[in-house]
Amino acid sequence: MNAQDIVDQILAERARASACAPADAPEVYAPANIALVKYWGKRDTELNLPVTSSLSVSMGAHGTFAKVTPADSFSVTIDGEVIAPDSTIATRMGAYLDLFKNYGGPFALATRSTVPVGAGLASSASAFASVVAALDAACGWDLNLREHSILARLGSGSASRSVTTGFVEWVAGERSDGMDSHARPLAETWPDFRLGLVKVHDGPKPVGSREAMLRTVETSPLYAAWPEKVAGDLRSVKAAILARDLGALGPVAEANAVAMHFTMHGAVPPVDYWLPASREAMHRVIELRQPGGVPVWFTMDAGPNLKLLFEARSEAVLRETFPKLEVVAPFSNG
Ligand code: PMV
Repeated sequence: MNAQDIVDQILAERARASACAPADAPEVYAPANIALVKYWGKRDTELNLPVTSSLSVSMGAHGTFAKVTPADSFSVTIDGEVIAPDSTIATRMGAYLDLFKNYGGPFALATRSTVPVGAGLASSASAFASVVAALDAACGWDLNLREHSILARLGSGSASRSVTTGFVEWVAGERSDGMDSHARPLAETWPDFRLGLVKVHDGPKPVGSREAMLRTVETSPLYAAWPEKVAGDLRSVKAAILARDLGALGPVAEANAVAMHFTMHGAVPPVDYWLPASREAMHRVIELRQPGGVPVWFTMDAGPNLKLLFEARSEAVLRETFPKLEVVAPFSNG
């Protein structure tokens, strides 16, 4: 099974009945997401099938708007700027959009991001999820959430969770074609829940998540413990969300992120995204929550920046410690 087989399986029937409309293709939106229980490791690198399930919270108004129009040849425009066709980003997006060439392509793609610039947030998740939504809007495929998630996953694993708002579980699935590996939204909301972006560095990553995951799975002796850890953390985080209990959620999410980073540190050669400034910020968070302090925990992805997990009432005091904190309210429209 390759990615093209999956696209064909989902679209073959539909494409016959629809045509992509060049003129009035709407611009559509997908939110970025931050995992509270991480996805780290693939069981199939072509289809981006994960070893474990994972769980994220969508970033509300922070994400990507995308619009596609059928064109004579492929092009990418990001935030109004045409991207060089041989750049990494255009090459990756071009290869992805090529999967859809028999269903109305080639396409000209235009995206704009509402993710705070340089906040250390990966934008690939919202980018791929918004591109699928834009294709669907232009071509009238009428994808359901499962299909949207599966197609977005072929672009980047975490994009499978960027297809909806709120808390989202990406169920790992068992099938070799991955048709059971997709997002499932949780019904629970948490209006006071906040994410805080602490940027310590915004330069290029020493190693991308694709290569880092592969290296971890293949060489880290610590990876063997990861699937069982994730299974327990998923149960705890879901229970904490149901109870809106930050004191239960924070420690599990933080320990999950730290464990993910330690599996990477055990790879050969080690994958180490932590900078001295990352460790400094982690220690400040740990100090802040000493008895009588602020209930705040952190999570981290494939990079050196921190994302704080807290509730609305702690925002003012956190801003004193982290003056440049970007605060995201995942359950408000703002
Ligand atoms: O979707 P990718 O290949 O960029 O991987 C993302 C992996 C993490 O962000 C580190 C964890 C996650 O679950 O989002």
